[in-house]
Amino acid sequence: MRTKLLAGNWKMNKRISELAPFFDAFATEAGIDRDPGLVKKVEVLFAVPYPLLAQATQLAKKHGIHIAAQNVHWEASGAFTGEVSFGMLQELGINATLIGHSERRQYFGETDETVAKKVKAALAAGFTPIACVGETLAERDSGKTESVVTRQVTSILGAASPDPGRLVIAYEPVWAIGTGRSATSAQAQEVHALIRRLVREQLSPAAGDRMRLLYGGSATPQNIDELLAQGDIDGGLVGGASLKPADFAKMVRSGLAR
Ligand code: PGA
Repeated sequence: MRTKLLAGNWKMNKRISELAPFFDAFATEAGIDRDPGLVKKVEVLFAVPYPLLAQATQLAKKHGIHIAAQNVHWEASGAFTGEVSFGMLQELGINATLIGHSERRQYFGETDETVAKKVKAALAAGFTPIACVGETLAERDSGKTESVVTRQVTSILGAASPDPGRLVIAYEPVWAIGTGRSATSAQAQEVHALIRRLVREQLSPAAGDRMRLLYGGSATPQNIDELLAQGDIDGGLVGGASLKPADFAKMVRSGLAR
């Protein structure tokens, strides 16, 4: 049985002053205040901008919520202006990070190769990497979804072999991110099943059974139930809806109901 994971991705949003009111409102809405054990039944994580990490970690701790970075560099230190290492994150009490989000791939030159290096370094550092994959609209329209996702996932699994640790893979079709146009639950399940098959074949059946696969791309309180009802969808990576405490709390409650 895979514990559901609801992960919020705040992207470049929110300020330090918003953290405490947000987490307080979220914890109340989600029911964590009344039932602190809830976060054992469904894991809750927020990937927040670097300057918010220290304070977010302190504040989230009392609610049993996890905080993650949105990006990281694979080297331990050195002449890499603007970059942040795993060790630096660890000092803040962070042990999870997004890797290769499509916005990083699209705007900041991330490739399968850099994503693989980061996944490898994350596992060596004992981190939970949440590695992102997904096809563009042009790729879907030209029937390349399977080959693109297979290429991306194969590269990630190569870096995670032989022991994927706590690796999580998030399937986020680029055309569904921030567009209000989510994949249908059937479209999402089809790709999740493909990813799980690749994990089983390329790592092991046990790893395939254990690894959590998240769906992301215009996930909302309205469509999350149907998405989470699919056999291979173990949670969500949620952008826009994770900025609103009540909306994200509803989605966490949906995860709890599964
Ligand atoms: P969205 O973003 O939920 O706003 O579509 C998801 C993501 O980019 O992780």
